[in-house]
Amino acid sequence: MTPQEFDGIAQILKKESGLILTRDKAYLLESRLVPVARQRGLSGLDELVRQVVTGKDAKLTFDVVEAMTTNETFFFRDTKPFDQYRDVVMPKMLQSRAAKKSLRIWCAAASTGQEPYSLVIVLNEMKAKWAGWKIEIVGTDLSLEVLEKAKAGIYSQFEVQRGLPITLLVKYFTQVGENWVFDPAMRAMVNYRQFNLLSPMTALGQFDIVFCRNVLIYFDQETKGKVLDNISRQMPTDGLLFLGGAETVIGVTSAFSPVDGQRGLYRQSGVAKPGAPVPGAAPPRPAVPPR
Ligand SMILES: C[S@@+](CC[C@H](N)C(=O)[O-])C[C@H]1O[C@@H](n2cnc3c(N)ncnc32)[C@H](O)[C@@H]1O
Repeated sequence: MTPQEFDGIAQILKKESGLILTRDKAYLLESRLVPVARQRGLSGLDELVRQVVTGKDAKLTFDVVEAMTTNETFFFRDTKPFDQYRDVVMPKMLQSRAAKKSLRIWCAAASTGQEPYSLVIVLNEMKAKWAGWKIEIVGTDLSLEVLEKAKAGIYSQFEVQRGLPITLLVKYFTQVGENWVFDPAMRAMVNYRQFNLLSPMTALGQFDIVFCRNVLIYFDQETKGKVLDNISRQMPTDGLLFLGGAETVIGVTSAFSPVDGQRGLYRQSGVAKPGAPVPGAAPPRPAVPPR
């Protein structure tokens, strides 16, 4: 691959997904895109890259972007955010929204479902507190492949062993062969849809609580700032945002401020700038490329 071709594919990834591909991560192209090349009957990575940089095949571009996403996730990842959600955020929301009895939660990089399903489990464990409420959880991701797995709710022994206490495993999952299937009624609490964080967010509606964890780390500062500003506009003034352990709003946006004593949790500062497009982002596509 020539340096121009590397730059071309890095530019496409940034424009389509926000992902920043630096030269020291070039090995990822090999490991993740060779299978895409094979599927397409191409001779290898070089031929695939040459075709992608022409920009003529939208489905190929999508497959390449999707293959380059990092989908690492597990149940109750980092533990603390789920304790904060149960002990700090939900009690606050149940009090402040007691009159309308409805709540919307957005899991903005849901991957294969472990994060939204951890939220569902926490909610179910405290269900007496929200009896009569309407709570909607929306799980979104750029990748269709991970969303298919999330919707199916089927996990391997290895996946359920990562972060899920055994008591919750036997309570919420059924073993089928070598896999574990998440309770269908619990699964139905999450509405999944494909969504690119670089796209306009207005159509998603307003969310009281947003989990946007471990995805901004792949973006540059400017994109992080725009995405956070856009998320802020989808939240009421008392909305609360969770970011991943390696992510922060400090030096990125003034729309959110850290909640004192609650690492990883952010509140609205009330100073989001008027809507602005994410830098270099592709215009929103009307339809998902067919699989
Ligand atoms: C590392 S996973 C994080 C999953 C989960 N939030 C967690 O913390 O365990 C990052 C996810 O972000 C998704 N992603 C990457 N770029 C995206 C974008 N521009 N819009 C929406 N999702 C994106 C990837 O497909 C991937 O599933």
